[in-house]
Amino acid sequence: MSRHLRVVQWTTGKTGSAAVRGMVGHPVVEIVGCYAYSPEKVGRDVGELCGIDPIGVVATDDVKALLALEPDCVVYTAYRPTFDHLVRILESGANIVTTMYMLAGAGYGDEQAHGLRDAALRGGSSLYCSGIYPGHAPTVALAASAMCRRIERLSVLESLDIQEYANEQMFRAQGFDLEPEDPDAAQRCEASCGSFKEQIQVLARALGVAIDGVGFQAEFATANQDTDFGFMTLGKGRIAGFRGTVSGMHDGRSVIECRFVWKLGEDMTPNWPVTNGYVIEIEGDPGVRCKLEPLGDHFPGATTTALPVVNAIPAVCAAPPGIVNHMDLPFVRGAHQVR
Ligand SMILES: NC(=O)c1ccc[n+]([C@@H]2O[C@H](COP(=O)([O-])OP(=O)(O)OC[C@H]3O[C@@H](n4cnc5c(N)ncnc54)[C@H](OP(=O)(O)O)[C@@H]3O)[C@@H](O)[C@H]2O)c1
Repeated sequence: MSRHLRVVQWTTGKTGSAAVRGMVGHPVVEIVGCYAYSPEKVGRDVGELCGIDPIGVVATDDVKALLALEPDCVVYTAYRPTFDHLVRILESGANIVTTMYMLAGAGYGDEQAHGLRDAALRGGSSLYCSGIYPGHAPTVALAASAMCRRIERLSVLESLDIQEYANEQMFRAQGFDLEPEDPDAAQRCEASCGSFKEQIQVLARALGVAIDGVGFQAEFATANQDTDFGFMTLGKGRIAGFRGTVSGMHDGRSVIECRFVWKLGEDMTPNWPVTNGYVIEIEGDPGVRCKLEPLGDHFPGATTTALPVVNAIPAVCAAPPGIVNHMDLPFVRGAHQVR
């Protein structure tokens, strides 16, 4: 690569901060700007916002000024999408990598998906979604599937105590700390699994199987006592864990499954065991099982979410215009990270 790829970081929350920490000192990408959603972050150094030394780049809410920097790529890690921003970025010719997997398909409706694709085609740019799950862990499942001569069911399970991620806004949106009888609980959990529905379609295309329906089922665990996690509290009897499956159906059978066990702590009923990582199972000939697990206590969730998009930046900048997924890119790996 003859020059650094110019990158604008879009927000510095949990994933965005990990992306910044992953890009500082990177031999191929260079942070040239940063968008701030929160007014109090405007004017502050991006390094300081992300818990590291200053990097000499100041956060701004001036979208026009950020696009005038002519970035090659935007790392878009906001909590929720702002479609006007996404369209302007793509139209300007800047590529987008994002952890918002709902954007991989029509997760926000056909109109928004077409709007993004058309903006990318106008700008000659690409939009790529990844993360750890959805995103990278399922691509490991696809790599494993190359060993099989017949596949009956491919599943990916995320099974974690998620308290390390410490994101109250996200956890409450998922339904944590609701009464289990609250009609919102199932609805919120299913809504938070919307990105798995996009993931199943991407996996199905990669495996060459047509999905004729997507199923969802989930059950709740409730807290045995009031608990203070520091970043949020859970009330006794309220939802402290979810276990469920999003199923991609083919000919009446569940053939691709995104499964999850998400727990806040251990003191709940039922207290399902967690496998502390990502378990891939392929039922078929041969059957295959593999696991992505941390070498230490736990995966740093923000890092494992952010780096699959950071490490994809060079490939996404070189990809054809449009909404692309991992099948359109060379295998995304930790290139340039051996130091
Ligand atoms: N695929 C995966 O593996 C995976 C895993 C985890 C998360 N995610 C997704 O990645 C994205 C970022 O997650 P995160 O945990 O980093 O999020 P976060 O820390 O809660 O929020 C990220 C930033 O979004 C901005 N923001 C806050 N409220 C907002 C709102 N109502 N609308 C728009 N922007 C808002 C803030 O920007 P400022 O910093 O500028 O104030 C905030 O710091 C989310 O869409 C999440 O669903 C994906």
